[in-house]
Amino acid sequence: MNGQDQNQRGHWGSKLAFIFAATGSAIGLGNIWRFPMVVGKYGGAVFVFVYILAVALVGFTVMLAEMTIGRHTQRNAIGAFEKIKPRTPWKIIGALGLLTSICILSYYSVIAGWAVGYFVKTVSGTFKGGITSQLSEQIYTNFVSNPLMTTVCFFAVIGITTFIISKGVQSGIERWTKILMPVLLLLILYLAIKALTLPGAGQGVSFYLKPDFSKLNGTVVLFAFGQAFFSLSIGMGIMITYGSYISKSDNLVTSAGWVSFSDTLVAFLAGIIIFPTLFAIPGIEPTAGPGLVFKVFPLIFSKIPGGNFFGILFFTLLLVAAITSTISLLEVSVAYFIDERNWSRKKAAYLLGGFAFLLGIPSALSSGGMKLFTDIDFMGKFDIIFANISLAVGALLICIFVGWIWGIKKPVEEVRSGNPRFKIRLLWLFSLKFFSPIVLIIILIFIKKIITG
Ligand code: TRP
Repeated sequence: MNGQDQNQRGHWGSKLAFIFAATGSAIGLGNIWRFPMVVGKYGGAVFVFVYILAVALVGFTVMLAEMTIGRHTQRNAIGAFEKIKPRTPWKIIGALGLLTSICILSYYSVIAGWAVGYFVKTVSGTFKGGITSQLSEQIYTNFVSNPLMTTVCFFAVIGITTFIISKGVQSGIERWTKILMPVLLLLILYLAIKALTLPGAGQGVSFYLKPDFSKLNGTVVLFAFGQAFFSLSIGMGIMITYGSYISKSDNLVTSAGWVSFSDTLVAFLAGIIIFPTLFAIPGIEPTAGPGLVFKVFPLIFSKIPGGNFFGILFFTLLLVAAITSTISLLEVSVAYFIDERNWSRKKAAYLLGGFAFLLGIPSALSSGGMKLFTDIDFMGKFDIIFANISLAVGALLICIFVGWIWGIKKPVEEVRSGNPRFKIRLLWLFSLKFFSPIVLIIILIFIKKIITG
């Protein structure tokens, strides 16, 4: 019944391992696929501006709060609330997180499956010798509307994730992230430089970085916050679960700061690759939606020397980044069933992974694979409900719980372990108790109006 069964739960092998795992969770498709998509759709630079504020002012606050709960209780996302406030409804926050994580996992793995498909395409030379934007559009549409291909690739992603999770946290996550994340960062830097030097890149740079404040509205704010939570992996207890594995001597503030910073950097650089390329090679609109990144990256690979090699490298690393995130999405509920329901790790992994697969099938078929799901835009709806609304609700409740219910003394004490001076204490408390909840409440009040336009 308790969370101390270390053989089942595992713990981080080294001090840095937590940082790598949390960064691995944060950095993923959210940065490279979703960020450019929402920036393109919701106004360009002005979105980027609101996004950075959302990360710095609210995202960081919530991340630190989640890590604090996790390390203090040493529990999973539901058990943690039960431990702090036993027999109260607060554990609903954790239950909401569990639901959200499985639902996000279901469609996230579909997109990761697209990366598998694109990896195979690149290896087999589909993009060799240069392609036009029309051709890129066509390749994309043919691929995502093929029900068999998308489902098989999706299955592969869920399968790999389930397998890694069934083997346990330590051997599963650590090994991957340590080596491959730095390589991903280098590759992205290189591609960003290449994109910036394409002739005609300037227009893309100003779309991306020169804000037009007349485009600022509720929709931009809602989606910028949703994207911030999604990208940082907060609002549903991931950082509680991961925080439960952190050692008492680690500094939570710098940990949360590092994860937020590196995550934002990667998203920022992904935009630097996408938008200049988009404007330098016309034919694809910034508002292209989920296909944006998949249509644009092959274009850049067809324009640079050694493009096919970089293409293979890119889709490999994108997949690794995605899988370190799917692992975190699955681990939330797996940790719960191990701790509180006494399931074995294997059983929890296979049952929950299987469930996520079934749940994701409509998403896999909603880009042309099956008319019914395409017409209702199943994946798009799921994304709005879970990535925007549910994460915002989760973040709000976490702020209220730590800022008002738990009592300030305990969380501050917890952060002080490993960081005795805790210099930003007052700022954090202000954001936690007042600023963040108020912003989130305003967003949630207007959500219906924003979504229905
Ligand atoms: N942050 C990941 C990404 O950017 C996705 C993700 C992993 C996530 N775990 C999460 C999103 C928890 C929300 C909540 O790709």
